[in-house]
Amino acid sequence: MSQAFAPWVAAVEPSETARMADIAARLRDDGVDVIDLSTADPDFATPEHVRDAATAALDAGETGYPPTPGTAELRAAVARKLSAENDVPTDPEEVYVTPGSKYALLEAIATIVRPGDEVVVPDPAWVSYEPMVKIAGGSVRRLRTARDDGFVPTAEGLADAVDDDTRLLILNTPANPTGAVFSPADLRAVRDAAVAHDCWVVADEVYERIVFDGEHRSVAAYPGMAARTVTVGGFSKGYAMAGWRVGYLTGPPSLLDAVGRLQSHSVTSTAIFAQRGAAAALDGPAEPFERMVDAYETRRDALVDRLRDAGVDVHPPAGGLSAFVPVGGADDVALCERLLEDDHVALTPGTPFGREGYVRVCLTADRERIVAGLDALLDRLD
Ligand SMILES: Cc1ncc(COP(=O)(O)O)c(C=O)c1O
Repeated sequence: MSQAFAPWVAAVEPSETARMADIAARLRDDGVDVIDLSTADPDFATPEHVRDAATAALDAGETGYPPTPGTAELRAAVARKLSAENDVPTDPEEVYVTPGSKYALLEAIATIVRPGDEVVVPDPAWVSYEPMVKIAGGSVRRLRTARDDGFVPTAEGLADAVDDDTRLLILNTPANPTGAVFSPADLRAVRDAAVAHDCWVVADEVYERIVFDGEHRSVAAYPGMAARTVTVGGFSKGYAMAGWRVGYLTGPPSLLDAVGRLQSHSVTSTAIFAQRGAAAALDGPAEPFERMVDAYETRRDALVDRLRDAGVDVHPPAGGLSAFVPVGGADDVALCERLLEDDHVALTPGTPFGREGYVRVCLTADRERIVAGLDALLDRLD
């Protein structure tokens, strides 16, 4: 039997974030208290009204196969939210519910990208976009962003990277790992590049609820974008529901038809009781989620203060769940390994996000532990 697997296998590296999480889990199993700032997994419990909705669904026996595109209730709730809050007019039938936004991203990329197609991905960017493009048989062109531009692509950068060979441009706001939040002018520049070169845009908006400075906007709301944009959202981050595995996408009808085929022949959908919880998250009180964002903002402020006190010129994240911290000339991978093994502080190196000489620090622990983790980092940088 041939061990020559499909071409994507050789092209895709294992996830560095998963490797760090595995080491942290091993240390924890050995009884070590690890300060884990390596995953963008909210440390808050899912609010009670959401848990109650899921429990009620389980008690009512809602344990069968879900409808492939999602429950009517959740699709309607997402459509209302996109129409009212994101200025993206959406019908319930135009929403596909997925097991996490990650699967929605894979579905969108696998549907749009053909073998040999070129996809523009910002740099630094979340670790999974490039593997997803490679799984679809495409290649990645990196759009390097600068710290002094707040890690947001400039109009000039877009003009260099996006051309008539570009099939798809991936955009993430608020962004992981940098915490960049695209302004209306930034989104207009994306729109101009996409329209000029007639390419698709996949907008990953999974962090949209977690914004400290500025305001979240959807690129699909800009003129000329609805027919070429797939908007992806989810419940993992802003609703503290990472383990529930609920996300969604919306886009033009032809794309939704293809996504429906992929979903029906793969995962079917995500558990009905999880979808009941997600609908309650959208339709119930917003205040428990707002309290979490306030806490993340307090942590963000503490992180920026501690680093700036030590002379580290960190770009303050305007949203999202992480900061991207420069570590001078240090080897970021070796630094993170030492920090984890010897100091029991888990961070993620910048290299897998596309930028050496940085580490990602997540805001997913309380303020004291974040500052203690930074103290350990700063000791090693001395
Ligand atoms: C930028 C970005 N997009 C998507 C995801 C996937 O989130 P989900 O849990 O909804 O699959 C993550 C998770 O870390 C992320 O950071």
